[in-house]
Formats: sequence, C-alpha cells, structure tokens
Amino acid sequence: MEFSFIKSAVKPSQFPPPDRPEIAFAGRSNVGKSSLINTLVNSPKLARTSSRPGRTRAINFFNVGKTLCLTDLPGYGYAEAPLKLRRNWKVLIETYLKERHNLKAVVVIIDIRRTLGQGDLELLRWLKTYEIDAIVVLTKADKVSKGKAKHHQDVTASQLMQEGFGQPISFSAKTGQGKQELCKAMHKVVGTDL
Ligand code: GTP
Ligand code: MG
Repeated sequence: MEFSFIKSAVKPSQFPPPDRPEIAFAGRSNVGKSSLINTLVNSPKLARTSSRPGRTRAINFFNVGKTLCLTDLPGYGYAEAPLKLRRNWKVLIETYLKERHNLKAVVVIIDIRRTLGQGDLELLRWLKTYEIDAIVVLTKADKVSKGKAKHHQDVTASQLMQEGFGQPISFSAKTGQGKQELCKAMHKVVGTDL
C-alpha cells in the first residue's frame, strides 16, 4: 500500500475534496498522534513527530493508497499556546468534525498513564453529538509495567463506559503493541485494509 502526504490545512477552505473515507487521529498535544500514524503505516517519517508539544498545528491529510485518507489533527490542551491559537484550534476542529461528511471515525489517543482529561471528554462528546464513531487508544504502553497498564486500562475503560464508549485499545509506537487490534477496529469502520 502506498502512503503519501496530501496537504496541511489551517482553515476549512484548504481541506482536500472529501472523495474517499477518512479516519482522523486526535488527542492531547504531545500524546503521540503522529508517532501512532507512522507506526500504523510502517513509515517512521510520514507524519512529523517531536518531543516538544504543539508541533502539529494544522490538519495534515495523508493518502492510504487510493481508498482511504488519514488525518493528523493538531493536539489540544497545550496550555502555553496563545489564546488566539487555542481559539483557532477549536473552530478548525469543530468545523472539521461537523462538516467532513466522509469522516468515518476518530481515533482518540490518550496517554496510558493519564485518565480522561477535559479536552478528551469535550472531543468525545462532540463525536457523540455529530454521530461519529470513536476508537479510543491508550498509547505509550511501553512506559509502564504490564500490571500498571492493566490498571490504567480498567480505570479508563470504566470512565469511557460512563460516557457511552467501548473498550480502549492499549498501544505502543515503540513496540508495535496494539497495532493489529487498531487496524482491525479501523477496518471494521471503513472496510479497507491498511
Ligand atoms: P503534537 O503534534 O505536538 O500534538 O504531538 P503528537 O501527539 O503528534 O506526538 P508525537 O507523535 O510527536 O510524539 C511526542 C513524543 O512522544 C515524541 O518524543 C515521541 O517519540 C514520543 N512517543 C510517541 N509515542 C510513543 C510511544 O508509544 N512510546 C514511547 N516511549 N514514546 C512515544
Ligand atoms: Mg503531531
């Protein structure tokens, strides 16, 4: 399968034509969204990653062959971002979720060491409102012991259940853990293999 970068969009008029099913990747700033995409597509440099938060400020669109589009959304919850930027983010993301009719699901990425934050909950509630499927992933699983990972997964799973969402998938961009399971969940939504 061929993967390629299509474009970056900082406003809706720059979105590419919605001519194929799309899956978006969202989460807090620095949580590991871009790394997760790179792991999924086996291409360490497709999406830009950085140890500094707030790296991805636009919506980046990627082609998966000719049948699927992936989008890397800018991270939320970066407190140091100027207010204007945070406002822009909100408008950009909400417009994207509301108007992108080819959007089939959003992969909501959470650090396995944290519980659901305000930004995560706000996003999950938007997805409910707009009737978009959510796939929740707990990433950086390699950073905690198996026992801790299981504990965090249970806590987040019950938080998610209260909000009306399914089981989260544990994942690591470093070890590839959870990749198969995530591909399966994505396949279920779009019917296309990665
Ligand atoms: P923004 O675009 O700034 O919002 O960040 P992002 O969510 O795209 O995060 P990015 O993929 O750039 O990763 C942030 C940092 O976390 C980088 O230093 C990555 O190497 C690291 N990282 C991401 N995923 C994992 C993981 O599964 N395990 C470990 N150990 N580190 C990870
Ligand atoms: Mg990023």
